[in-house]
Formats: sequence, structure tokens, C-alpha cells
Amino acid sequence: MSLPVARVSFAGVSIARVSFTTLLVCATLTACSTPPGQPVSGHAPAAEAAVPAWVFPLSAPIRAAPTSAMMPTTTAPVAATTPAAATAPDTIKFIHLPNSTAGFTRAQLSNRFAAPDWYPTSHAPMPDVVARGRVPDLYACGYCHTPGGQGRPENAALAGLPSEYIVQQVMDFKSGARRALLPGVFPPADLMIHEAMQTTSDETRIAAEYFSRETLHPRVIVLERSRVPRTQVVGSVYTPIANGGEEPLGTRLIELARDGEQHENRDDQMRYVAYVPPGSIARGRALARTGDHGRTVACVTCHGKKLQGMAAIPPLAGRSPSYLLRQLLAFQTGARSGPATQPMQPVVANLDISNMIDVIAFAASLPP
Ligand code: HEC
Ligand code: HEC
Repeated sequence: MSLPVARVSFAGVSIARVSFTTLLVCATLTACSTPPGQPVSGHAPAAEAAVPAWVFPLSAPIRAAPTSAMMPTTTAPVAATTPAAATAPDTIKFIHLPNSTAGFTRAQLSNRFAAPDWYPTSHAPMPDVVARGRVPDLYACGYCHTPGGQGRPENAALAGLPSEYIVQQVMDFKSGARRALLPGVFPPADLMIHEAMQTTSDETRIAAEYFSRETLHPRVIVLERSRVPRTQVVGSVYTPIANGGEEPLGTRLIELARDGEQHENRDDQMRYVAYVPPGSIARGRALARTGDHGRTVACVTCHGKKLQGMAAIPPLAGRSPSYLLRQLLAFQTGARSGPATQPMQPVVANLDISNMIDVIAFAASLPP
């Protein structure tokens, strides 16, 4: 069988030739790293640990993706707004945002060694590792995670995460205890692992202390809908196709940038919109607060009453739901393993994708 191979572009820069073999295998079988029917953790029989293709916004269509109820329709191919790899980004024309006095060219906005700082007064002065990284191999943390750690749906918000949790995660990326949900499929996650490999413990500590003191601002609006705009992918995020009409949401969580250009411009004050099935938030509230008759362990016992985190346990409230959903799948498939993840293993053991969407919809709908 010949499988589709596509050049995937990230932030306008084509970085990798990605084969979808892994994705197809994982998306079709019960679990990626666990044989079907085997427990993920040894605590309880695993629920279906399939990784649906739609959790990865990819600039190329996944043609052979599973045709299950999870994916009622396919996402349209390749976005037009991401410049082709061959075209060098513009170095002359300055781009502006309505609420900022700054201006950056497309070339500046594509430079991973300089985090575009649209709102310099919205965060503390950035340490060097966050603002610039270190040439030639360590990209600026603030380029991807934004200067104040507000994050983007294809990565993660770092603002307000416990400092020791940030350090531990970078160590886990380095040691392999935390892998990409499906390595080689979603370029941003592979880039984070590259990043962790390059980081010294001093740089990690400095970045962790900085981001943990920043405050996450409301970043996402969660909407319950049975139909959603048809989407394409820009910069590893879904965005509506202009005049593209709607399609059924089905059992999916689609977080999108209403304005793809604003996302490409790395505006860290923009709000993303997450569409979830009707009733998700109420069902998720029950799962989070009580465990819903033993289906899971009540999230509030560890992540805090308002899911704003406790001690070194990370906050979930108001964080990107597509990021959080990929993490629940990562715990379930074993992509996130190692001692620190043990408390999460019984939590995900019996959750199916629909339960995961529900509990994440609830978490993301709370104020950060
Ligand atoms: C090229 C883009 C990129 C750069 C640069 C980058 N990251 Fe990341 N980071 C990501 C992505 C993507 C993820 C999500 C990975 C996943 O889903 O598995 C992530 C995740 C993380 C997480 C996990 C957050 C959580 O809630 O568990 C931490 C911590 C982190 N990054 C720290 C850093 C630090 C510190 C730096 C700078 C030294 C940095 N990152 C630079 C892309 C990047
Ligand atoms: C027994 C304690 C415990 C319970 C209950 C629990 N968690 Fe966690 N959770 C943790 C710990 C500890 C971590 C950090 C794991 C690590 O370091 O990798 C975590 C991490 C996470 C993450 C990753 C966050 C990030 O920034 O990457 C998500 C998502 C998550 N939990 C969701 C949930 C949900 C949803 C529930 C309820 C259904 C829940 N957790 C219940 C302890 C718990």
C-alpha cells in the first residue's frame, strides 16, 4: 500500500517530510504503544486509545484517515495563506496590529530566534532564552509560546504553570519519558523535543521561573454546537474557509483561529474559538467534580477546585482545549509516561474520546 507523504509547513517554513504511516496505524488500531485490549497502565482495562486524525491540524489532508463517526467530514486541503517554502518571507513591508504600536515584517515574524513582542508592557522583561534563544540551535521559547507564555493551540500556554512542573516537563522531553503523541506526525511537538534537547538546565530554570510568574489571560471561547465552519489549516491551527459553509461537528473538538492571518501574525491577545458537541460542558463538569460514578477520578481533587492547579500539579482552567486533549491521549497511549504521570494513569484508563472532549470542554470554559 502506498501511503501519502506530505511536506508540512510550520510558521511558513517547510521543515519536514512527514509520512502518515504512524498516524494511520495508530488511528486505525486500538492504541499506539499498547496492544489492543491491553491495559495502558496496569491499573484498569484501557478504554479505546485511538488517536483520531483531527487532533492534529496538518497542512496536508490525511486522505486515508479513518471514516468513523469521529470524523464525519474531512478537512479541506492546504491553506492558501501559508507562504510556500520556496518563497522567502517578505523583508520590507511592515505588518501592524490594531492594538499595538509595534510592526514586524513577515521575515521577522518567521525568525525563531526573536519572539515577536506585540505588547511589550503585557509581561515582565523577557530573559534572553525566552526572547532570543541561542543561535544556531535553541529557538526563543517566546517565539512559539509567545513572549508572555500565552501559548497557541499547537503548543501550550506556559504562563502560570508551576516552575518545578515546567522544569520537570523539559527533563521528561529530554529523557524520552514525554514523547510527542505521535512522533513525526505533528511538527510543533517534534520541535519542542528538539528544543528540550538543546536547553541547558540553567536556561530551563530561568525560562521556568519567568513563565511561572506570568498570568494567563482568557485565550479561548468554548462554544457548544452541532455544526461548525468548514476549516483549513494555517500555521498548524484550523481556520474557517471563507464562504466555506458548515459541516457536522460529530464527536470532535475543533479549536480554530477565526482570523487565520491574526494567528499567523502571532497576535498573543487574540481569542481562539473551540467548538464542542452540545451538552459537553455539563457532562464534563460531572466528570471533573465527581468522577461520574467511577468512570474517572475527580479532577478537582488534584488540579484544584477551579482546576487552577495545586502545588506542582498544573492548572487546566482556560487552557487550550486542543492541547489538553492531545495530552489526555498522550497519557492514555503512554506517550507521556514516567513516574510523574502515574497519578494520571487511572484517570484516563476508562475515558473514551467523547468523555475526554467533555471534561476538556469544561476545563477550557473556566476562567484561567
Ligand atoms: C518551535 C516551537 C517551540 C519552542 C521554540 C519551544 N516550545 Fe515548548 N512546546 C512546544 C510545543 C508544540 C509543545 C507541546 C508539545 C506536545 O503537545 O507534546 C510545547 C510544550 C512545552 C511544555 C509543556 C507544557 C505543559 O503544559 O506541560 C513546556 C514546559 C515547554 N514547552 C517549555 C519550553 C521552554 C522552556 C522553551 C524554551 C527553552 C520552549 N518550550 C520552546 C513548542 C515549542
Ligand atoms: C491523583 C491526582 C490527579 C487527578 C485525580 C487528575 N490529575 Fe491530571 N495531572 C496530575 C499530575 C500529577 C499531572 C502532571 C503529570 C506530569 O508531570 O506529567 C497531571 C497532568 C494533567 C494534564 C496535562 C497538563 C499539561 O499542561 O500538559 C492534563 C490535561 C490533566 N492532568 C487532566 C486531568 C483531568 C481532565 C482530570 C480529571 C478527569 C485529571 N487530570 C485528574 C494529577 C491528577
